Amino acid sequence: MAGDNHRLVVVSNRVGPLSDEGKAGGLAVGLADALRRRGGLWFGWSGQITPEGTGSEIRVEEHGHTALKTIDLSEQEIEGFYFGYANRSLWPLLHYRLDIAAFDRESERVYRAVNRRFAERLTPLLEADDLVWVHDYHFFFLGQELRKAGYDGRLGFFLHIPFCPPDMLTALPASQDLVRAMLDFDVIGFQTDNDRRNFVAFCTQEFGAEDIDGDRLRTADGRIVRASAFPIGIDAEGFAEFAVSDEAREHERMVGSISHGRHQIVGVDRMDYSKGIVERFRGYELLLEDNADLRGQTQFLQVAPLSRGEVEAYADLRVELEGLAGNINGRFATLDWNPIQIMVNGFTRRALAGIYRAAQICMVTPLRDGMNLVAKEFVAAQDRADPGVLILSRFAGARAELPEALIVNPYSPDDLARALRQALEMPLEERQRRHEAMRARVFANTAHNWCETFLAVLDAPAERDLQPRSW
Ligand code: F6P
Repeated sequence: MAGDNHRLVVVSNRVGPLSDEGKAGGLAVGLADALRRRGGLWFGWSGQITPEGTGSEIRVEEHGHTALKTIDLSEQEIEGFYFGYANRSLWPLLHYRLDIAAFDRESERVYRAVNRRFAERLTPLLEADDLVWVHDYHFFFLGQELRKAGYDGRLGFFLHIPFCPPDMLTALPASQDLVRAMLDFDVIGFQTDNDRRNFVAFCTQEFGAEDIDGDRLRTADGRIVRASAFPIGIDAEGFAEFAVSDEAREHERMVGSISHGRHQIVGVDRMDYSKGIVERFRGYELLLEDNADLRGQTQFLQVAPLSRGEVEAYADLRVELEGLAGNINGRFATLDWNPIQIMVNGFTRRALAGIYRAAQICMVTPLRDGMNLVAKEFVAAQDRADPGVLILSRFAGARAELPEALIVNPYSPDDLARALRQALEMPLEERQRRHEAMRARVFANTAHNWCETFLAVLDAPAERDLQPRSW
């Protein structure tokens, strides 16, 4: 295993669960797998909001050879750091939604302060030869703060969400500070080559960094930083096993009992405007509008667990989606058929695997997405003898590895309706051929391989060791 003799220290906002049973999100699933296999330390937010905030005592949970160590956030910290800067400024902006990104000085100040506090609390827990791997858009300044706090070991960063083009990012006040802070990491990972190119373009345009060979940048002060794409995967075998578990079978049966033999279409997304659910509903509505022969033949189940409800755009989205689903049902329902159902509660991962398996079509149509692991999980959960069809957005990172899906423009209801019709009519032999090709890639590029590839690069003798540090 790469870097086996070094302890792995993972830092992310949400920590755990280490078991793959719960309602873990994309990031946690990949990391839990790595930590279960190699052990180490996972550091982050406890999920608790207390008056002490980042000054709280460290909470410790030992799980065999892995320790989870977490600190709290205060009301003011969660508001400025998490809801404010991370989710009202950075999330929309990095998902190309400059139109709804909100910028305010106080949130930015608190975000930076929380990054500094995390660095101060983490530094005493670190050893010189650790491999420290920081995750996601909550911690753009953490590498720089760890350096300032005196840590000189190997530091990696992985961005799970997209990195928008420089022209858009420069709308963020102090965007240069943010990207410059990233350059204190030794290795910076992105989901796709497109994201990496946007980052490199920012660095070359804004601070004259030199793009050495696509994967390495020379900064203006002569340091070399590695920036590459490392597309994240899933535990494909584990998920395929989930799909035939008792809990999955029970959910597969329940979905069957609501669809009554109709074609089952599913969507599974956190309720987030980046996921394109509004446009997806419009595409489905158009399918029913234009194809009278399909009315009564299809059943759409959208699972959309609520997320970040304190942010206005998320609360508004719920109202809009429930309204749209109501309209579609109002227009087309018959005594024995409701064309669409939306559920805002979450499911366990085994239950989800059963829901995927029950579906003939899965719509993964984000307007922009770092990777999208639902697409990969749907593929892993399918019955190989009679697989379903994946409809996949051209703007999901997963598109690069799953070109055999029906690739759509998620902004176009026409395109979505066309793809739905094509999926409904696709012959078994074509479904099998497309599915086998996608399956092979999902099983080859797993969460385990993603992690080991990143850590092997982080562990490699670095050019930076030959360079004087400038900070
Ligand atoms: O990378 C985006 C991400 O952090 C996912 O890994 C995760 O599923 C989701 O966002 C969770 O969001 P939050 O922590 O804000 O609930």
